[in-house]
Amino acid sequence: MPDDGPARTKRVGIPNEGAIMPIISLPQEFNQDDLYVDLRPILGRALYLKCEGFNFAGSVKLKAANEMVTAAERSGVLRPGSVLVESSSGNLGVALSIIAAGKGYGFRCVTDSRCNLATRLLMEALGAEVVVITEPDPEHGYLGARLNHVRDLCASDKRFVWLNQYTNQNAWKAHHRTTGPAIARQFPDLDVLFVGAGTTGTLMGCARYFKDNHPSVRIVAIDPVGSVSFGTPAARRMLPGLGMNVRPPLLDEDYVDEVVHVAEADAIRTCHLLARRGFLFGGSTGTVVSGAASWLARNDARDLTAVAISPDLGERYLDTIYQSNWVRDLYGDDVLGADPLSTDARAA
Ligand SMILES: Cc1ncc(COP(=O)(O)O)c(C=O)c1O
Repeated sequence: MPDDGPARTKRVGIPNEGAIMPIISLPQEFNQDDLYVDLRPILGRALYLKCEGFNFAGSVKLKAANEMVTAAERSGVLRPGSVLVESSSGNLGVALSIIAAGKGYGFRCVTDSRCNLATRLLMEALGAEVVVITEPDPEHGYLGARLNHVRDLCASDKRFVWLNQYTNQNAWKAHHRTTGPAIARQFPDLDVLFVGAGTTGTLMGCARYFKDNHPSVRIVAIDPVGSVSFGTPAARRMLPGLGMNVRPPLLDEDYVDEVVHVAEADAIRTCHLLARRGFLFGGSTGTVVSGAASWLARNDARDLTAVAISPDLGERYLDTIYQSNWVRDLYGDDVLGADPLSTDARAA
């Protein structure tokens, strides 16, 4: 028999006193909120990238989802037996899937054919029902068709509860309460913050927080070319997450100092550049980093403290953004360059 040393009383199921590891019972209780990547070695420009993809939903949308669900529970709209329904291009759907599963609600996600297969399978694995809309509305595109479907469902059965991420004020409040203050705590001398614009929940929450508390911080919104959010013309967009085909109801441009538009090809190139340095991010991160880098290049940014927000990681995009046939078919043969090493900043 091995010698186990002095006898100790076994404390079943009780962690060490003073232990600092997080222990959770619901998936949304864990979120790694204080991780930043210093992009200077990759971009040659000072930019800190706040990573929002390290939670069980894998994206920034966990914050909005959690805030919206909690508020709906508080107000009594959401109760046992309710079935959540939401239009989502993916990440909010995943976030609601994990929250619904943890709390015992049903969830039906209405998405469209641009939703990644991996994201759809993920939602289904979590117990959600996924409806894929394949016909765009003649006037309002896929989003219009998705919203029509959600409205029809809600009219058909009152167990359905639509949180409506496009108009729900709790979406931006989540970031006003958490993301904005977290950035301000880490970067008390922040000069400029770059935030991608989808529903604009992240953008408006951060922008309102900084305008209310640190008004000298410049808020730069990053929007894909082809999005109409800030009044530019609609065009084909293939990367989910950022950009809208209708003006985002949450957006108040008074809180935004500048807007940078980024072509999808530049976003994809930036994703590949980061991946070649070991950082696999999603397309909206490529968009935000590309827009931030171009803004920093245009402005005299040597002494500025700059932060950009990365909404998610790249694994869900392996069969799109990181698949060379997909990229070449949509953006042409030259988009990634013939020689992958040509993007290697270390060689320069
Ligand atoms: C990958 C990704 N990036 C960015 C966003 C945009 O965030 P927001 O809707 O808060 O503007 C989303 C929203 O779904 C997303 O899924």
